[in-house]
Amino acid sequence: MNLLDEVGDAAVAHKVAHAVDTARLEARLRGLAAHGAVATGTGGGVARQALSAHELAARRWLVQPFAQRPGYRIGIDTAANVFVRRDGQESKLSPVMTGSHIDTQPLGGWLDGAFGVAAGLEVFDALDRLGLRTRRPIDVAMWTNEEGSRFAPGLMGSVAFTSPQRLDAFLGVRDGEGLCFEAARDAAVDDLRGEAQRLGWAWMDDTPLARPVHCYVEAHIEQGPVLEAEGLQVGCVTAIQGVRWFRITVAGRSAHAGTTPPASRDDAQAKAVRMAHALLEHAALCGDDRLRLTIGRWECSPGSINTIADRVVFTVDARHPEAAALDAVRLLIDTALPAGGQVEVLQDKPTVRFDAALASLAREACIALQLSHREMLSGAFHDAMPLAGFCPTAMLFAPSRAGVSHHPDEDTPIDDLAACTRALAWCLARLAGPLVSSTPNEPSKD
Ligand code: GLV
Ligand code: MN
Ligand code: MN
Repeated sequence: MNLLDEVGDAAVAHKVAHAVDTARLEARLRGLAAHGAVATGTGGGVARQALSAHELAARRWLVQPFAQRPGYRIGIDTAANVFVRRDGQESKLSPVMTGSHIDTQPLGGWLDGAFGVAAGLEVFDALDRLGLRTRRPIDVAMWTNEEGSRFAPGLMGSVAFTSPQRLDAFLGVRDGEGLCFEAARDAAVDDLRGEAQRLGWAWMDDTPLARPVHCYVEAHIEQGPVLEAEGLQVGCVTAIQGVRWFRITVAGRSAHAGTTPPASRDDAQAKAVRMAHALLEHAALCGDDRLRLTIGRWECSPGSINTIADRVVFTVDARHPEAAALDAVRLLIDTALPAGGQVEVLQDKPTVRFDAALASLAREACIALQLSHREMLSGAFHDAMPLAGFCPTAMLFAPSRAGVSHHPDEDTPIDDLAACTRALAWCLARLAGPLVSSTPNEPSKD
């Protein structure tokens, strides 16, 4: 069956889109940002890394209003991905899925990931306000550890969901404090189950990894400058560029900084700096501004001002839409690596192209709702990346102020967030339709 064979009525989708409430969306986003809020010199950042106490509290806070509303169930799977299920008329049908992640960078902004989850929940509120029941269930997913800053690689939850055989390798990954992902995952599952039992929530008993999903549409902020520069409201994403992460270890021998003559020095820091310089020069001078190369982490041991370094570990994040450009970075890493050095590949994701029919439905939504829009490539990776290899997938972007993200200044005008949410609502209503009336729920009574 074709994905678009059984879509719901466009006029009803229009109504759902217009039931999106800007103030309600903003209130949920502000409430979410309070979990892990950090006052910074520039404004308010958010420190809510994957499976931290702040993230667990935020998960409970987000699902709680729905857990007590008729027609909803809450679930968590073995990768600690959380789902809010809005039942459909035909509960055996696979769900239409939306969502994103609510973990942040060590100090991130308030919208990266959070917007996609809040937008999905706002669509639930809009459907409830209209008293509409969709034919298919709709799931809002909160994927575990999208960022990859606490446990590397990123996208662990969505990768494990779509390729369950990958979960075992993630379980042993440790964070900077030595805590393994498995322990953090178990604590997260116990936390949500405990809350559900205590409060008598309706629970999704059956949440295996890789369960069938009809299609996945994720809303996210662009995190780049394109939409704002062109004065557009929505980006219809057609592809996500490839990304490779490397961890490079350079070894030397520690010795006295003042007494060791040049000929006797084996300085890990000097060797690592030369290698990093070669990589950054390549990015600056290769003449291809689509190449993005970042050295984001740098650790030096023993880290003493007057001791030559015996070990440097640094990371390289390389991105480009074409594999050949990433192969060239890999070749340079291999040739510039000092003797005795080591390269580990932490993540290797080729460019992913989204489902053409879904991407055109996203454009149709923008046209129907008179939202200015364009097609675009995503520079950042997203949970939609693994989902795209699993079920028909698409993404919608809202503009980012000054293109800033992974920074406390990350922001988007609330009207733009609402516009993108309306496009999402239109798509979800059509994909999960046809729609039928039921008794209206009043979201405001929660
Ligand atoms: C996601 O956070 C990315 O780094 O693209
Ligand atoms: Mn994100
Ligand atoms: Mn991010």
